[in-house]
Amino acid sequence: PLNEPFDLVLFGSTGDLATRKLLPALFSLHFDERLPSDWRLIALFRRQHDDFLDALQKSIMSKHSFDDKTVKTKWNAFIKHIVTFSFDATEPGNYGELKQVVDQKPNVNTIFYLATPSALYGKIASGLAKAHINTPNSRIVLEKPIGSNLESAVKINQLVCRHFKEHQIFRIDHYLGKETVQNLLVLRFANTIFESQWNQKYIDNIQITISETLGVEERAEFYDHVGALRDMGQNHLLQLLCIVAMEPPARFTPDAVRDEKVKVLRALRTLTDQDVHKKVVRGQYASGISNGNAVEGYLDEEGVDPSSETETYVAMKVEIDNWRWAGVPFYLRTGKRLVHRACEIVVHFKEVPHSIFDLQHKNTMANKLVFRLQPDEGIRLMLCEKKRGPGVSVRSTELSLSPDYLNRKRVPDAYERLLGDVISNNQTLFVRQDELIAAWDWLDPILKHWDESEQGPESYIAGSWGPAAATLLLAKDGRLWDETCRPLKGDEA
Ligand code: BG6
Repeated sequence: PLNEPFDLVLFGSTGDLATRKLLPALFSLHFDERLPSDWRLIALFRRQHDDFLDALQKSIMSKHSFDDKTVKTKWNAFIKHIVTFSFDATEPGNYGELKQVVDQKPNVNTIFYLATPSALYGKIASGLAKAHINTPNSRIVLEKPIGSNLESAVKINQLVCRHFKEHQIFRIDHYLGKETVQNLLVLRFANTIFESQWNQKYIDNIQITISETLGVEERAEFYDHVGALRDMGQNHLLQLLCIVAMEPPARFTPDAVRDEKVKVLRALRTLTDQDVHKKVVRGQYASGISNGNAVEGYLDEEGVDPSSETETYVAMKVEIDNWRWAGVPFYLRTGKRLVHRACEIVVHFKEVPHSIFDLQHKNTMANKLVFRLQPDEGIRLMLCEKKRGPGVSVRSTELSLSPDYLNRKRVPDAYERLLGDVISNNQTLFVRQDELIAAWDWLDPILKHWDESEQGPESYIAGSWGPAAATLLLAKDGRLWDETCRPLKGDEA
């Protein structure tokens, strides 16, 4: 239960993340009456923003209808908890003023939520400490990406860790808050049937796809310095990989879970220069048709450097050097302006060692377990069954698990779940420092190789499945990427 009073001090309140995800999630917690009666949002802006509440209302409206009287009443109650405050993180004097606001409520937990570029994290942490705003009970939430390579990530962590202990630091990766990710943990560790098959003896390969139809939208300035590998690969893709590949933790406690995840990251096969060339593909979208509309290419987007080599797509073949996964490739891909919005983890089991049936489409007959994170959430297991009728022919069928979805029950957004966890002080679904560093450590050779390479990203048509080299990456191993995005059965109703 979220029953302890709190102050949420939000740095970067007018940013895309705050208005689109974070504050609507806070509203949903309020709407569902999950927040304690005593809480405040101290929203910090660099410049006073008169239309902040209007913009927020608009964003929330896209999820809740304001015609509904309850929503209106709840919104009116919600805004009473909001204090706005003009603040420049680089201005030391502002921290003293912030302290006065925080001190109005001395006995509540203070949560500092940093939704700003990570280059500011060190400065903010030390500003808070110098003004004596943080206490041993305060928490600090850090948005990704933290740093832009191994060196900067280490540095930022050191700076933050001078003023906050690890148990106070919540490094957020919102993919860990998605319902199906937690269901994956339950499916793996609350059943015996899957875990006994979960290894190189029975699994052929695992594919993880996060495809988006959106382009860079209004975030070009940020994105052009970041790119797909840092924006999605370093965090979301590798975290999903950890959840699928980790050993069973002894307990469902923050450190037991994170101990197992970090072992996976440390077991990732280091990439040499040649490996990067062979196993990592980067792409950049050109103009095309997305969702039925003509869209411009990345280089023509406002705010993007016209000679930019920033990748908007990345695909990679990752290997884990341990007993469980030796010889099982993990294929990871993510990109913007792709054909569908989808996020799926697909576990491909090996084919039967000896088939006694006449299989017409042999390669579609191996079992697959599909964890679908979006657009709808659910799990399905692809099996073979006899086609009804004379003779014996085999066809593929599926068992699906999507009860909430079928009941049309609202699935809480990832940020709702994670914000709730910060408020109730549970770090299980947050990234520990050693995980973050291990992920950057593995990624660094790719970044270095790209920096030095004369070859930029391969271009792909907006609205396609990405660059041809990505198809080739799997074709070299005699495999194909999964086709995603077929709705789960309930979706057709
Ligand atoms: C964010 C990235 O972490 O995740 C964005 O910075 C991306 O570029 C977003 O669009 C995708 O999240 P979701 O939950 O909409 O799949």
